[in-house]
Amino acid sequence: MASSNVRESHKLVKLSSNPDHYKRALEVALADRIKKLQAYCPEMAKYCMDSMETPPHVFRFLSMGSGNGQVDVTLLGHLLDAYPKIEATIVEPSPSMNEAFKRLVGENPDSVGSVTFCWHQMTVEDFLKIHDGTKFHFIFMSGVISYLKDVEKVLIDSYGMLAEYGTIAIINVAKDSWFYHFLDAERFPGLGLDRVPSSDVIAVFESIPVKKTETQVIEGAMEITPIFDDSSTLGSTILDMLTHTCNFRETAHPTLVADVLRYASESKLITKEGDKICMKNHRDLIFVQ
Ligand SMILES: C[S@@+](CC[C@H](N)C(=O)[O-])C[C@H]1O[C@@H](n2cnc3c(N)ncnc32)[C@H](O)[C@@H]1O
Repeated sequence: MASSNVRESHKLVKLSSNPDHYKRALEVALADRIKKLQAYCPEMAKYCMDSMETPPHVFRFLSMGSGNGQVDVTLLGHLLDAYPKIEATIVEPSPSMNEAFKRLVGENPDSVGSVTFCWHQMTVEDFLKIHDGTKFHFIFMSGVISYLKDVEKVLIDSYGMLAEYGTIAIINVAKDSWFYHFLDAERFPGLGLDRVPSSDVIAVFESIPVKKTETQVIEGAMEITPIFDDSSTLGSTILDMLTHTCNFRETAHPTLVADVLRYASESKLITKEGDKICMKNHRDLIFVQ
């Protein structure tokens, strides 16, 4: 493929460099993903409860890269069933994500009104520098691994922050998903977000070593039908998410846009139901204790 397809030569802007655009794209294009993860919250809470029979006086929850809090608020609601006193430490660098999270907490006094929140608007890396040694009973990292500069350090330090009988839960893109296959497609250099294989995550923990790791697959599908309609705003937003680029359809070379659409339509990960086209979007849920 000609070098004109390379991100730099067209000044394409990465989605993560514009937090507001990124937040919108995530909420619009991956709304089903949030529902899937919320449906897994009882399972995550149970995993933690099964290993910690005696509830601590104060249950300490740490979420890193918490986003708009939709998953965390649901999870905390389930944890409250077993642990009536929860202190939640939230680490999230994006101001708009933090704002949305705080709003959501205010809107849900019945489910998380009794949780005490401590907000840190910063990256995980910065949080680790100021961390005061507090141990946490549940450490949650959902969708953040791909953004970390030094994954190994963050994972090892996270285990160091885990209380006895505590649980780390990591949600990571599985190999059976667009986001992985797209990166492997060498014809799109510079597009997409770097991914960390779950096997690498597990290998880090096994090198420490930890007591146990267990992986489950959260099956998911993402409807991509609108990307083939070039007048669809929703389609453009989904394309932004798929390519990890702001305004991809408008700013990329038309040949590149056409090539990405062709790639999507020919992907092995596609399923068709009538007029609806979906893309496999599985996640790994890794538990560490
Ligand atoms: C895919 S979203 C996941 C949000 C949420 N945890 C969820 O599962 O819906 C990734 C989040 O990680 C945040 N993030 C990116 N780099 C980060 C870093 N270095 N440290 C902490 N959070 C980061 C982003 O701002 C974003 O909110």
